[in-house]
Amino acid sequence: MMLLRSALSLLFLLAVVRSQSLPPAKYDGFVYTKGRVDPDPVAIEAFLDPLCPYSRDSWPSLKKTVAHYGRRVWLIVHLLPLPYHDNAYAASRALHIVNKLNSSGTFPLLELFFKHQERFYGAQTINKTRASVIKDIQRLASKVADCSGVEAGFNDRQTDLRTRVSFKYSASRGVYGTPTFFLNGFLVPDNGSTIDYNGWRHLIDPLLSSREA
Ligand SMILES: *[C@@H]1O[C@H](CO)[C@@H](O)[C@H](O)[C@H]1NC(C)=O
Ligand SMILES: *[C@@H]1O[C@H](CO)[C@@H](O)[C@H](O)[C@H]1NC(C)=O
Ligand SMILES: *[C@@H]1O[C@H](CO)[C@@H](O)[C@H](O)[C@H]1NC(C)=O
Repeated sequence: MMLLRSALSLLFLLAVVRSQSLPPAKYDGFVYTKGRVDPDPVAIEAFLDPLCPYSRDSWPSLKKTVAHYGRRVWLIVHLLPLPYHDNAYAASRALHIVNKLNSSGTFPLLELFFKHQERFYGAQTINKTRASVIKDIQRLASKVADCSGVEAGFNDRQTDLRTRVSFKYSASRGVYGTPTFFLNGFLVPDNGSTIDYNGWRHLIDPLLSSREA
């Protein structure tokens, strides 16, 4: 009996270790500039929370910046669902699910979350059950991917694990708020206001021109 119990707990331990194994098989994050960058681009890493209003506000100028530089910049988005945004983890999980089902739906869904963000805020969903909020998130995700696939994704442990990896990756980089940006691997200082398009130009232009010198 004793032996059985310790064998079982060993198995359990192995399962836990296995399911949380790091590093993950794939680098965390969604590459926005997939397949269309120079060999040596300026790397922008964005840590965003789909339900964070500041992340939402930072997105249009970042997109405009990437469009301006074209092949010269590479943008990857990491998700950091913040614990004080009640439904951020489920929203992030939906993004991982959609990314797996239809990767070209990933950023359209991120933008849908930004657009309909208020609907998922803590205060707005306080009287709703968790199940009904997840249904609502699934409905939104179904605009960019197959509905039954999205539903099944929420029952697939792998998508939960992937979302955890995003969180762990953010924590491992010391990121504790959103939006947070890194340029060529270094933190972009945050002065409390959203970086607008000119702000981005101001940051990236010197990097590119110093290469030519
Ligand atoms: C995948 O996402 C793209 C972008 O939103 C969309 O145009 C396309 O219809 C989606 N495919 C499916 C199968 O939902
Ligand atoms: C939640 O329920 C309480 C009590 O019925 C009500 O006062 C409040 O307005 C409701 N909030 C929302 C966002 O529905
Ligand atoms: C903070 O940064 C933004 C964007 O880079 C800039 O437009 C703004 O002037 C800065 N504000 C202060 C107080 O430095």
